[in-house]
Amino acid sequence: MTPELMEAGVRAREAAEARKSGPGSSGGRAASYGRVVEEGVVDVTHGPILYLDAITVSFDGFKALNDLSLYIDAGELRCIIGPNGAGKTTMMDVITGKTRPDAGKAFFGSTIDLLRMRENQIASIGIGRKFQKPTVFEHLSVFENLELALKDDRGVKASMLFRLSGEQLDRIGSMLQLIHLKDSAQRTAGLLSHGQKQWLEIGMLLMQDPKLLLLDEPVAGMTDEETERTAELFLSLEGNHSLVVVEHDMKFIHELTRDNPAKKVTVLHEGSVLAEGSWPKGRSRMCRATRRWWRFTLGDEFGGRERTVTSSC
Ligand SMILES: Nc1ncnc2c1ncn2[C@@H]1O[C@H](COP(=O)(O)OP(=O)(O)OP(=O)(O)O)[C@@H](O)[C@H]1O
Ligand SMILES: [Mg+2]
Repeated sequence: MTPELMEAGVRAREAAEARKSGPGSSGGRAASYGRVVEEGVVDVTHGPILYLDAITVSFDGFKALNDLSLYIDAGELRCIIGPNGAGKTTMMDVITGKTRPDAGKAFFGSTIDLLRMRENQIASIGIGRKFQKPTVFEHLSVFENLELALKDDRGVKASMLFRLSGEQLDRIGSMLQLIHLKDSAQRTAGLLSHGQKQWLEIGMLLMQDPKLLLLDEPVAGMTDEETERTAELFLSLEGNHSLVVVEHDMKFIHELTRDNPAKKVTVLHEGSVLAEGSWPKGRSRMCRATRRWWRFTLGDEFGGRERTVTSSC
């Protein structure tokens, strides 16, 4: 857990203690549901940073999410895989307030009820989302894009007129290093490769210091080298941020999980969690449970090793 999250936890615990001893308060976790203990503070003292419980989303009677439950711990990097139409993007839409579920609960920490918040409010409490297509300001330089992200709430014109502090300059410098764009700081963003644009957008999200990052197919369209570097980047963020990474690229998932056998991978299928577990164990379990789509939908995306597992189940 990061010092920041620990500090947030201590503050939330103090707030909870104060509630317990206060008149008329029932105290405890249940009593705190639906209320923000302290604005902007995520309470992870009692459990996960993201809690989805029995979420159902229907589109004209078709259940895109069907009783979906998922818990992500603070600092965790969770990979989510599943065939096309499994509900992965819809799940992110629910978390970020873009889609309202018909049923279920969605909490950020144990106290922030996401289903009561609007999309812009959710973005401002520390949930950052990366869509598949990179969205950067193409006509501005890499540096200016990061600068804007740092001062997001000022508007483009006001931001450009605002002078950066030394500390802010340092932050942009560190970010450029982290996203491998130090040598391209003054380049126009529109001239970057697809992969570099993706990194820039991730950097822009990180400038906002999100607690939770949702990344939908972040390496689609990247070269092998860019994909490897992206895996390194995400692994370096793990611990300081919580990450939910949706991907079809199994080599990338393998990169993200191979050094930690305990790391969980979740398989979504037809709007529900089909399997969840550490990668090697989960892989064989998934293999039994999802044999058909494993072989026919994802078959080509697996390397030889994975195919061997597939054929043995
Ligand atoms: N706005 C919508 N209206 C109607 N149906 C929708 C809508 N959004 C999603 N769906 C349907 O819900 C199901 C889940 O879609 P979703 O985009 O979440 O899948 P996914 O797992 O992200 O797939 P992919 O891997 O292709 O990105 C699909 O059958 C999709 O057609
Ligand atoms: Mg999707």
